Amino acid sequence: MTEDIPEREARSYETSQGDTIFITQRDGGFFAYQNICPHLQVELEFLENQFLDQDQEFIQCSTHGALFNVETGECISGPCLGDFLTKIEIQVHSDGGIYLTE
Ligand code: FES
Repeated sequence: MTEDIPEREARSYETSQGDTIFITQRDGGFFAYQNICPHLQVELEFLENQFLDQDQEFIQCSTHGALFNVETGECISGPCLGDFLTKIEIQVHSDGGIYLTE
């Protein structure tokens, strides 16, 4: 539900396929990605639901500190510069439910 994910915060979820994804809100829009860093294919967060950097401006990998654009998933700093997180297509319904569309 959208109310579970405040602006500039993120929450992780397990899909029915057993993958871990996370969803974050930015400027009222919701963005979802696989919880896998393109650098070493490890999970991004060190603490539960801590996917953003200190300023809550970018998605951050806790292993080597790579920063990713929230809207596009592109790595803009760090060892995987230019690579992308794997985006998950979602739809937000009027009841506040967030649904994966794939
Ligand atoms: S594993 Fe994510 S930046 Fe190295």
